[in-house]
Amino acid sequence: MHDVDAILKMRCSRCETDVEADSSRTACPACGALLELAAPRPDMRGDELRRIFAKRRGAIGGRDASGVWRFREMLAVRGNDVITFPEGNTPLIHAGRASYWAGCPTLRVKHEGLNPTGSFKDRGMTVGITQAKRLGAPAVACASTGNTAASMAAYAARAGIRALVLIPAGKVAMGKLAQALAYGARTLIVRGDFDACLALARSAADALGVYLLNSVNPYRLEGQKTIVLEMLEQCGWDAPDWIALPAGNLGNTAAFGMALAAARDCGLIRRVPRLLAVQAEGAAPFAHAFDHGFGALEPITPNTVATAINIGDPASYDRAVRSIRETNGVVTTVRDDEILEAKAAVDAAGIGCEPASAASVAGVRRMVRDGIIADGADVVSVLTGNVLKDPETAVRYHAPMAGHALSNPPIEIDATLDDVKRALDRA
Ligand code: F0G
Repeated sequence: MHDVDAILKMRCSRCETDVEADSSRTACPACGALLELAAPRPDMRGDELRRIFAKRRGAIGGRDASGVWRFREMLAVRGNDVITFPEGNTPLIHAGRASYWAGCPTLRVKHEGLNPTGSFKDRGMTVGITQAKRLGAPAVACASTGNTAASMAAYAARAGIRALVLIPAGKVAMGKLAQALAYGARTLIVRGDFDACLALARSAADALGVYLLNSVNPYRLEGQKTIVLEMLEQCGWDAPDWIALPAGNLGNTAAFGMALAAARDCGLIRRVPRLLAVQAEGAAPFAHAFDHGFGALEPITPNTVATAINIGDPASYDRAVRSIRETNGVVTTVRDDEILEAKAAVDAAGIGCEPASAASVAGVRRMVRDGIIADGADVVSVLTGNVLKDPETAVRYHAPMAGHALSNPPIEIDATLDDVKRALDRA
């Protein structure tokens, strides 16, 4: 096998300046653009790789038990002395009744909310924290709409590294805030939005020498590539027609494109699925850019109920554009009420997810209605976060007088059998 140590480097995505792979930089020293990790494709191809991945599946302990490190031949990282829970190995399941809501009876969901801290962020974080440990970083930092903070806090605690999280005041769901505090991160509630938090985290990382673990860090994206690799494996390496995902800061959209290109180049799949990136209408700078042929990004002031993707100036814009172009992908928007109804449908199917995750299902419904996703197409929506992340939104949706289409309001009763019977008989 190739010697990853010898060939690993980071390269600027714009001016191609090379940077040592073991630098703690996440931006190019020459022009400020994001850095990418470069490593040649593995020597092995198709069947051989598939056999290796399959053999590791079901390992009880060590890095092979991780749904990230199990795919290490496909990642531009070293896989030694990893910090792992393990993570990944999430189910790909039929969407049940939610598939009918979406108008796509074969719809499946890849449930990344079933990771150790309840979101897909754990896949990037095992790689990011492993790198932080390798660098001897005294502390790690991130700006976050909540999930990155929760994940980084947990992995930093496991690694024995101090964690600093910057979150926008009043815009983070309760479960995520609780996690960041509980896992022991120094938690700063910033009077500003996520974009302001990220700008602050980037300058704090530069000025204070803490290692930045937002998805601008290319090690994070290496881990997130395995969402797609594992999904393809679960599809028997017979790629679906579409993969739908919610899009905010665009790290995941970037990682998905990278994973699909690698899977194609290594002969793991024969055809590349189309990506459907879904944004909330009130936080849709990427979708607006798509509608205008991907010119320059125009940042906006975001406003959506899906706080995870309440982002107006996405950091990975350039590399996400590449993902959409290379997969003949589509970027669309959905309204907040569609997101909430999609969430209620996913929840009522017994699957459950947080609001941002449901955007991927709402987006599929839109694309089916618009005839962009054909009848009978094979579609996988990625559910990025757990239903318990944002309990307040669920309780508000189902509140007695809210009257939403899929409401399931609680019923207050006296402690009598009669009241129980009446409640049971209610339509
Ligand atoms: N879904 C969930 C549940 C998220 O938490 C995020 C991002 C996304 C989708 C969008 O992914 O940013 O890669 O386009 N959450 C980040 C955070 C911003 O701070 O937790 P993206």
